[in-house]
Amino acid sequence: MTRKINIFDTTLRDGEQSPGASMNTEEKLIIARQLIRMNVDVIEAGFPISSPGDFKSVAEIGRIAGDKCTVCGLTRAVDKDIEVAAEALKTAKRPRIHTGLGVSPSHLRDKLHLTEDEAIERAVHAVKLARSFVDDVEFYAEDAGRADQDFLCRIIEAAVKAGATVVNIPDTTGYNMPWAFGARIADLRERVDGIEDVTISVHTHNDLGMATALAIEAVRNGATQVECTINGLGERAGNTALEEVVMAIRMHGQELDAHTDIVTQELTRASKLVSSITGMTVQANKAIVGANAFAHSSGIHQDGVLKARDTYEIIDPADVGAGGSQIILSARSGHAALRHRMAELGYTFEDDEFESIYQAFLEVADKKKEVYDEDLESIVHERERVTKA
Ligand code: KIV
Ligand code: ZN
Repeated sequence: MTRKINIFDTTLRDGEQSPGASMNTEEKLIIARQLIRMNVDVIEAGFPISSPGDFKSVAEIGRIAGDKCTVCGLTRAVDKDIEVAAEALKTAKRPRIHTGLGVSPSHLRDKLHLTEDEAIERAVHAVKLARSFVDDVEFYAEDAGRADQDFLCRIIEAAVKAGATVVNIPDTTGYNMPWAFGARIADLRERVDGIEDVTISVHTHNDLGMATALAIEAVRNGATQVECTINGLGERAGNTALEEVVMAIRMHGQELDAHTDIVTQELTRASKLVSSITGMTVQANKAIVGANAFAHSSGIHQDGVLKARDTYEIIDPADVGAGGSQIILSARSGHAALRHRMAELGYTFEDDEFESIYQAFLEVADKKKEVYDEDLESIVHERERVTKA
């Protein structure tokens, strides 16, 4: 059996930090129900101290989750934040407090004005306080991707000793290359005492378009929780996309020695739901859930897919709940694709007759980006009219 990788969904917290994506409690509950249906392991439901609305969302999601998944609330390493999160999480059967602070030189110097030792002291205090309320405490080392590695090892070890059950290593600014990030995880596993008894989580951002690659490389190096969002929603260029991580692990599970328990057939539904609630459209060429993810436009590809789907598709669309492969008719389409679509519409032609239909099709296609069924019907009817005349 391969290692189970926990999927920690933060669509409702980091995803909501995407400009223009804010959601009310009712909307968050709709998404939370879908996340539960998909079998995510942890839902980060919000940042309870940030507003009464977020407090309510965390409490309500805690109520509906029951024992189906862990519900998590974010805090800074600040007493009041932790106390309020603990209060909001009282409804949850499996509550987790997610607390931490910045650990990179610029966070310590410019944002927090703390020495390394003071930061460790604050981390230990926060974890211990959180543990006085709940059994499950995740410590995040914000901007770990740019931290001094020796200091990162020290603060993570202190958090583990203080009682953290999960340690989160974020690449907050999306700065890392996959191999460097993977090496950080391997090094932590080698040097931090007690790390083998806790879950190593990774939380990566997409500023260089590397978020998924970083998360997968971290899994390869021993991480067993990935923090991600539906459609990769999140601060700036977004977070690791849940659907990408889940499908990459599914396709390469053996070499990664990893699996998730996500119901992948629900991925497309989740993507559409989040997009319609937040108003954040999904780019057409987005991996796994984009409108073009299973669409084929060039004649060579269409011919291949019509002969055998896996010539140009690595994923069966049904496995992610997408309608199916699509053949897009355009000026790049060949005879095979047109013949196939015509047959689906109920039209079959002898070869010489079909050639003139194909030429008429190309004339229409050169004037349009895509040729639709109505255009094909017109081509056929026009030909019938000319033949009868
Ligand atoms: O990106 C980040 O570092 C975060 C933390 C608060 C976990 O979102
Ligand atoms: Zn983040």
